[in-house]
Amino acid sequence: MGNGEKGEKEKLLMGDGKIMEIIIKECCSDDMKTLQEISIETFNDTFKDQNKPENMIAYLEKAFNLKQLEKELSQQHSSFYFLYRNNEIAGYLKVNTNEAQSEEMGNDSLEIERIYIRTKFQKQGLGKHLLNKAIELATESNKKQIWLGVWEKNENAIAFYKKMKFIQTGAHSFYMGDDKQTDFIMMKSL
Ligand SMILES: CC(C)(COP(=O)(O)OP(=O)(O)OC[C@H]1O[C@@H](n2cnc3c(N)ncnc32)[C@H](O)[C@@H]1OP(=O)(O)O)[C@@H](O)C(=O)NCCC(=O)NCCS
Repeated sequence: MGNGEKGEKEKLLMGDGKIMEIIIKECCSDDMKTLQEISIETFNDTFKDQNKPENMIAYLEKAFNLKQLEKELSQQHSSFYFLYRNNEIAGYLKVNTNEAQSEEMGNDSLEIERIYIRTKFQKQGLGKHLLNKAIELATESNKKQIWLGVWEKNENAIAFYKKMKFIQTGAHSFYMGDDKQTDFIMMKSL
């Protein structure tokens, strides 16, 4: 996957004393194929063990086909970001505001619709870094809260959000193929 030659470079000090170089770069239409690859890889790695293959295939085809991603990339109130670690894509973020949010939360809210760190890069502080980027975007545009939907069975992500001081405020339904699932709505005031 390509280089993060644009975007702001930051250096993060790791627990083991090593320094890693981080860049967060907003995606554009040229990134569509890469976005598709990373979306499919991370979704598969996260959910394949707890879902039927036919439901996974149905969802992957619906959510991550190029036409759908092109539509989402061109939506005025949605943005995607790649996070590069030492020039390799380590994860990505999708945020929505206004009517692009998947629930009617109003114009004071920002939704984190997707936040994914590739398996080999997890538990190194990068998810927190990407989440802080979402908080920065929200505060820059004077939002009052940040929220997301997370599958009730995604214990890892729920623990991460709780650590980041999100609290559960509700739930909504989500279809993975023909499987009706429950997502917890979690929120953090800014
Ligand atoms: C959830 C996810 C984004 C977290 O990113 P990460 O890079 O692994 O997490 P970080 O290393 O930045 O952790 C940040 C903090 O959360 C804590 N944390 C992370 N995962 C945790 C877990 N499973 N249980 C408890 N605490 C956890 C870390 O200990 C760390 O705490 P600290 O700040 O006190 O050191 C990442 O694991 C991921 O992409 N998972 C798969 C995709 C997914 O489920 N996405 C969410 C869909 S809704």
